[in-house]
Amino acid sequence: RARYTGLIDKYRDRLPVHDDTRVISLGEGNTPLIRLNNIPRELGREVDIYVKYEGLNPTGSFKDRGMTMAVTRAVEEGSRAIICASTGNTSASAAAYAARAGITAFVLIPEGKIAHGKLAQAMMHGAIVIQIRGNFDRGMQLVKEVASKAPVTIVNSINPYRIQGQKTAAFEIIEELECAPDFHCLPVGNAGNITAHWMGYSEYHAHGIVNTRPRMCGYQASGAAPFLEGKMVDQPETIATAIRIGHPQSWDKAWGAQQESQGWFSACSDEEILAAQKLLAEREGVFCEPASAAALAGSIRDIEAGKIPGGSKIVCTLTGHGLKDPDTAIAQSKAPVVTVEASLESVQAAILENLES
Ligand code: F0G
Repeated sequence: RARYTGLIDKYRDRLPVHDDTRVISLGEGNTPLIRLNNIPRELGREVDIYVKYEGLNPTGSFKDRGMTMAVTRAVEEGSRAIICASTGNTSASAAAYAARAGITAFVLIPEGKIAHGKLAQAMMHGAIVIQIRGNFDRGMQLVKEVASKAPVTIVNSINPYRIQGQKTAAFEIIEELECAPDFHCLPVGNAGNITAHWMGYSEYHAHGIVNTRPRMCGYQASGAAPFLEGKMVDQPETIATAIRIGHPQSWDKAWGAQQESQGWFSACSDEEILAAQKLLAEREGVFCEPASAAALAGSIRDIEAGKIPGGSKIVCTLTGHGLKDPDTAIAQSKAPVVTVEASLESVQAAILENLES
């Protein structure tokens, strides 16, 4: 069919929907897989790096893949309200899909620790925003407790339909490359997405669509790296607020993905994350949010160290759009905004001063 109408329609036979299910969709999925040109050349390594630009989903993050499934099933099961704890993107996505479905979204966010674009989205879509004086992990705990007492459906990634929807990113990658990549690198917070990707790769592998699966490489921020420390972290801290999580819910499943795939977990400092975000924006024209850049930062380091060998095909998931967090972007942009008189001479002078030979 010519018209793309979202990932449930596209992958209907691989997803838990019925023939008469009313699908709640905003046309999510089908995101570009962009091959990097300049960064690999500058690295001087023979590697193929692709970025899966999930920031181009309807609400600007990969969460939409899971949310279309979770909200579709919630509505089918008669739910009138959904709830999530969120570092921002899940709340934006839940708010939008609830609006589309005509139901209520309650979102718990950590006070002062979500990027402004995400807050704007939740507010605009009419979610009930509950800001807590506590972090994401505490919010998650509260959501689980309250959902056992009130008629609300949890749409965090502990909702199995979320993972089902998100696995389709792996399907798309395989279809586009006509094989599985050698390495799949992605940022890890609550660990639902690494779980979902591994499920997607494993499903296509089990059905004989590909005969290999990638090694799964999960990257965390150094200040919020429970998978590196091998235990939960009580006070997670990072500039990449999307992954400011110390008690990941999909702990066992993510370890399973790492071990079965013979991949690894690694951590990047906030400085490395911001540098990778800027590098990608400056050299390739692709703008992602800080958390997303953790995967690129980590994979570049692992390529340079030879841990990811020459000749490899690498996919990095860019989980969220750069416009989600304009404050961090502007704060880290050293290039000054040049202010001049509104005259031809001044503008011309500004150009000549700044022209690189
Ligand atoms: N990147 C971005 C931009 C995210 O928003 C998240 C998670 C992740 C990576 C990590 O994915 O949790 O599946 O390991 N954001 C959640 C939220 C927690 O509330 O928006 P994960």
